[in-house]
Amino acid sequence: MTDYPLNRFKGLETPFYYYDLNLLKATINELKNNIKGYPYKVHYAVKANANPRILHEIKEAGLSIDCVSGGEIVAALAAGFKGDSIAFAGVGKTDSEINLGLNHDIFCFNVESVPELEVINEIAAAKGKVANVAIRVNPNIDAHTHKYITTGLNENKFGINLEQLSDVVEHANSMSDINLIGLHFHIGSQILDNEPFKMLCDRINEIQDQFEAKGIKFKIINVGGGLGINYSIPTKEPVPAFKQYFDTFKQNLRLREGQELHFELGRSIVGQCGSLITRVLYVKNGTSKNFVIVDAGMTDLIRPALYQAHHAIENISSSSAETEKYDIVGPICESSDKFASDEELPVTHRGDFLVMHSAGAYGEIMAMRYNCRKLPGSYFSE
Ligand code: LLP
Repeated sequence: MTDYPLNRFKGLETPFYYYDLNLLKATINELKNNIKGYPYKVHYAVKANANPRILHEIKEAGLSIDCVSGGEIVAALAAGFKGDSIAFAGVGKTDSEINLGLNHDIFCFNVESVPELEVINEIAAAKGKVANVAIRVNPNIDAHTHKYITTGLNENKFGINLEQLSDVVEHANSMSDINLIGLHFHIGSQILDNEPFKMLCDRINEIQDQFEAKGIKFKIINVGGGLGINYSIPTKEPVPAFKQYFDTFKQNLRLREGQELHFELGRSIVGQCGSLITRVLYVKNGTSKNFVIVDAGMTDLIRPALYQAHHAIENISSSSAETEKYDIVGPICESSDKFASDEELPVTHRGDFLVMHSAGAYGEIMAMRYNCRKLPGSYFSE
């Protein structure tokens, strides 16, 4: 469990992100223990958090990396990741991003459309290179998660539909400067139920059987990310349920001889180790609501405003046994700038420090400068 050094916090400008590096290390260790002895490789999804210190720890732990833009590739390289550990995904890669990937001989481009395949083939040919490619398949599986973060349904913009897959694979195999190494899937994010992952395994087994009947084999299968974390009671589960997650694949996915299984996990690796620390500016008693107005806003942590997400909130300054219900809101000029409604907290005062838990993933990285605000800083437990 993360220890919050209040005295240290008092000397810092709020709001800021605070990362528990011991928890990050413990999380990665648990992950690694669960894949030991299997032909499994985990690419950390940089989109969840690209803080250089976090990237450094993840690189030191020996994980590979999953990028979705040229900027993320640059961040990964700066943290010391080598090109051959980079998977590069995204529906809209620009020519310069493709060039960057090829210049660094990246492990694989996860390709989402035929025109993209053609452009990669052309750019690779012009460089006298061959691009490793995995085709992203849209498996049409409902991950039962928030509509903004479900990705594996036919109505989503991602990947190649099952009906078109066979033609696209043949097309890719006929291209001179494309080396088709695998199939890539990703069904959504913050998935806590193993059933959608089991369905994904069944779907992949069917797809592989169909291709095998035609003599087509793939060196890698990439099942993307999506494992969720416990936002309601983070202290109950600081390290996510990696065992259950990986067991689902061990038990249900039939890997072929010599085949590798790749994962792109983001949230489950960094989610619980990060917190947003904010100070209470004012407590305002209204007629129907009491408001706690904090100095962090949706600009610092947008998940509640964008996905109606709830991050557990703790007042680490108050030891009052008496509690009160508050709406916790920020200073931004938007009604959606609200972290929680009717949150029960110890009686809260101006100057108190609040912790918003489970903010390590899609927190700092999604911060923005709306209202000309400063971006939040970051501090570490060691
Ligand atoms: N691979 C692909 C192709 C993805 O699209 C994503 C996430 C991941 C891997 C990593 O997924 P994870 O293991 O973190 O679930 N901003 C949203 C989440 C967006 C996820 C987008 N894709 C949030 O704050 O909940």
